[in-house]
Amino acid sequence: MTRADMLIVGSGFFGMTVAERMAELGLHVVVIDRRDHIGGNAFSEPDAETGIEVHRYGAHLFHTSNGAVWEYANRFTTFTPYVHHVYTKHRGEVYPLPINLGTINQFFRSALGPEQARQLIAEQASELNSEDAADLEQKAISLIGRPLYEAFIRDYTAKQWQTDPRELSADVITRLPVRYTYDNRYFNDRFEGLPTDGYTAWIERMADHPRIEVRLSTDFLDEGHDLSKSATVGRLPVVYTGPLDRYFDDVEGPLSWRTLDFEREVLPVGDFQGTSVMNYADPDVPYTRIHEFRHFHPERAYPADRTVIMREYSRFAQRDDEPYYPVNTAADRERLLRYRELARSERDVFFGGRLGTYQYLDMHMAIASAMSMVQNRLPEALSLGGVRR
Ligand code: FAD
Ligand code: NA
Repeated sequence: MTRADMLIVGSGFFGMTVAERMAELGLHVVVIDRRDHIGGNAFSEPDAETGIEVHRYGAHLFHTSNGAVWEYANRFTTFTPYVHHVYTKHRGEVYPLPINLGTINQFFRSALGPEQARQLIAEQASELNSEDAADLEQKAISLIGRPLYEAFIRDYTAKQWQTDPRELSADVITRLPVRYTYDNRYFNDRFEGLPTDGYTAWIERMADHPRIEVRLSTDFLDEGHDLSKSATVGRLPVVYTGPLDRYFDDVEGPLSWRTLDFEREVLPVGDFQGTSVMNYADPDVPYTRIHEFRHFHPERAYPADRTVIMREYSRFAQRDDEPYYPVNTAADRERLLRYRELARSERDVFFGGRLGTYQYLDMHMAIASAMSMVQNRLPEALSLGGVRR
C-alpha cells in the first residue's frame, strides 16, 4: 500500500468493523494481526479430514437484538435458521438447559405446572437471602435453591474457575434465570443464526475493499517492521484491539484472564452426541463441555461416517496462553482503572474490542461498540472534514 491513513491492530470483529466503516468513509486502512489468519477468535476453518467447519477458538453462535448490527452483518453474509440449544449431563442423565420446566420435572421426577414449579423453587431458595450471600455458592442457593445448585451449577462452575464456588465472589453471578416453560432455546435475542458460508468467509468479505489492506503474522508490539508500535504511534491514528496491559508493557501489572484448552478429535461415527453442545456438570469429568461441529450446519452435506468433536477445558491463563475471559478480581479492577488512565493520555490511539477494554464482548457487542467508535470518536479525531462522508 502506498498510503495508510490509519492502522488497525487486530482483525477480529471489532477491528474489521472499524476498518470497513472507515474505508467506506474514504480512508486507506491497514489492518495487522499477529496470527496467521484473519477473524480473531471468531475464525473458523474446514477440518482437514472431514470438511466439517470447526471454530478454532471455541463455538461461536451469532445472536443479537440490535437491528443496526443485524442489518450490518447481513451486508456480508446470509444466516442459516440455526437455533442454539444446550444440554447437560449429570449423574448419567441428560437434561435441557437453561434450567427450565423440563429440567425441573426431570430432576425432581415430577409433573409440575409453571406455578407449582415456581413455588417449589421459591421455597428451596428461601434457605438464604441474596443480599446476605457471602460467596457464589450462597448467592446461587439464594436464587435457585440447593438441589438445583448442587446438580447443575456447583461442579460446573468449579471446573470453569478451577476454584471452589465458596471461594468465588457472590457477584460473579447476578442472576440465574430459571424458565417456567419448556422453552429451552438458549438465547432470547430477536435475531439468531449462523453465517451460511462460515465466519471466515463473512470476515473476508468485510476485508474485501479496495482501501483495506490486511497484513497477517505481524505483531504490533514486535519491533523491526514498519507497522510496529514505535513506527506508527504519533505518526498515524491507531485503533488497538490487543490486550490493554501488553500495550503498556504490563507497567501496572498483568490483568488476569481465563483461557481454554481445546482437544479436537475425529471419530468414526456419523453422530456422536446428537446435538452441538453437551455440558458436563459433574466433577469426575475433567472437561466442561463437548462441541460437535456438524450439528451447527445440518443443512450441509457432511460425511455420514465421521464427525469432529472438541472437548473444552477451562483454566487460568499463563503469560503465553490465549486470553479468553477476564477474571476481574479486585486487583484487576484497580489495575484496569490505571490502564484506562494511561490509555486516555495516549494521543491518537483508540483502544477497543474485548482485549483492548478488558471485558467480555459477544460478537454483536464488539460490532456495535466498533460502530459507535466510528460514529462518535473517530471522525473528529481524524478530522475527516475533507474526506468524503
Ligand atoms: P478478537 O476476536 O480477540 O480479535 C483481536 C485480534 O487482535 C486477534 O486476532 C489477535 O490476534 C489480534 N492481536 C492481539 N494483539 C496483537 C498484536 N500485538 N499485534 C497484532 N495483532 C494483535 N461471541 C458471540 O457472539 N457468540 C459466541 O458464541 C461466542 N463464543 C465465544 C467463545 C469464546 C471461547 C470466546 C473467547 C469468545 C466468544 N465470543 C462469542 C466472543 C467473540 O469471540 C468476540 O466478541 C470477538 O472475538 C470480539 O472481537 P474482538 O475484535 O474484540 O477480539
Ligand atoms: Na432466597
